[in-house]
Amino acid sequence: MLHEQLKPFPAHFLWGAASAAYQIEGAWNEDGKGPSVWDVFTKIPGKTFKGSNGEVAVDHYHRYKEDVALMAQMGLKAYRFSVSWPRIFPQGRGEVNEAGLQFYERLIDELLAFGIEPILTLYHWDVPQALMDEYGAWESRKIIEDFDNYCITLYKRFGGKVKYWVSLNEQNYNTNHAFITGMHPPGVQDRRRFFDANHIAFLANAKAIASFRQYVPDGQIGPSFAYSPAYPASSSPKDMLAFENAEELTNHWWLDVYCWGQYPESALTYLKEKGWAPIIEDGDYELLAAGTPDFMGMNYYQSLTYEFNPVDGVETGEMNTTGQKGSNADTGIPGLYKTTANPNLETTNWDWAIDPTGLRIGLRRMMSRYGLPVMITENGLGEFDKLEADGTIHDGYRIAYLRSHLEQCQQAITDGVDLLGYCPWSFTDVLSWLNGYQKRYGFVYVDRDETDPKELKRIPKDSFYWYRDVIQSNGEEL
Ligand code: BG6
Repeated sequence: MLHEQLKPFPAHFLWGAASAAYQIEGAWNEDGKGPSVWDVFTKIPGKTFKGSNGEVAVDHYHRYKEDVALMAQMGLKAYRFSVSWPRIFPQGRGEVNEAGLQFYERLIDELLAFGIEPILTLYHWDVPQALMDEYGAWESRKIIEDFDNYCITLYKRFGGKVKYWVSLNEQNYNTNHAFITGMHPPGVQDRRRFFDANHIAFLANAKAIASFRQYVPDGQIGPSFAYSPAYPASSSPKDMLAFENAEELTNHWWLDVYCWGQYPESALTYLKEKGWAPIIEDGDYELLAAGTPDFMGMNYYQSLTYEFNPVDGVETGEMNTTGQKGSNADTGIPGLYKTTANPNLETTNWDWAIDPTGLRIGLRRMMSRYGLPVMITENGLGEFDKLEADGTIHDGYRIAYLRSHLEQCQQAITDGVDLLGYCPWSFTDVLSWLNGYQKRYGFVYVDRDETDPKELKRIPKDSFYWYRDVIQSNGEEL
């Protein structure tokens, strides 16, 4: 659709930025915090880039006031952050750690003092290690109650101040690495366990949303989905079918359950045939239907292009975690689909396709199929940045990336998408789970590397000033 005139960004659009506890806080064992699975996993040799971990991260735990002051200077309207479950419940359940709650209380109060809307993510991958040791975390139904209890603790404490909540962050991406590639804890490679753990996570998500209705009736909640809209590599029926398979198994499989409480039929049939279908008990579908979201959070980085994959074709391939362009391998499910490079798109140094139009396509697909408002809870460019001798960082490439994606947001709004806000990843530079500190996303540079935390000095990049002006003009000047 070619619009003659674009609609403006809504008056109360949430111009935000995002982060996650493990990637920024540091203070991994302070004030009563228990270890998360990442505190343990990152210590296993060879698991992360140059052995990097979040023990110090960017020390946001101690520098949150400085960080919020920078957010205020930028004119941010919203800030998405996550709460570390083991900071609140060091053992995953049982006794609550008041010092943990107080940290987030101080952060939330600081944000509100500057008129910045807090967007609280309940879970961004840092499950307490105690629950992994006790019952295998997401592989046991016991987690449904423990997660609900943790969420209710936060609803009760912060429900009066926080109105936007994200339940699970990127369940799809995280479980893919936890149970298929083995690159996230617990480092398993087993599709059966993957689908079972996902079913349990869906139930936990639904239960936490159902409780939310009770404790925060005037708030809004939804999960954040890592959304890569699928494209077919060609119009050949074989590739079209591969694309349909991928869309069904990599997107609808999650989105249908979140929004409708149902699995897509053809995908479920296929999994039953393979012996990979999750165990569904009586009452599960009722719970799923009782916990549907108010909005969908969308984390968009790239579209993915799919083609036919023969039965003896590729499975999981090497992933580029070094920034050496061209080191990413195709991945897929033999007999169903495999990814392939899209010759129409440029890629980043980590081989992620740069596709702003894909964001508009994704927003429209989401609107057409589910009819829910959407919040873009992540979008951004991970790149090497150079700190110049004069202390500046010229990240024009990041400005170009974000600008082109915002242009597509405006197109999507004009198409009729109800877009609540835009929270680019990330506010400051953060630890990238598998790629260390050299893959940077922030508006604010943090001077540290994988081995040396240095002074952790904060330095606004060119993109910081650009985004400040975008916010000031409510998106009129991109
Ligand atoms: C998302 C996550 O997958 O993308 C973030 O929610 C993550 O936590 C971001 O950092 C960027 O991914 P990466 O691998 O480049 O750090």
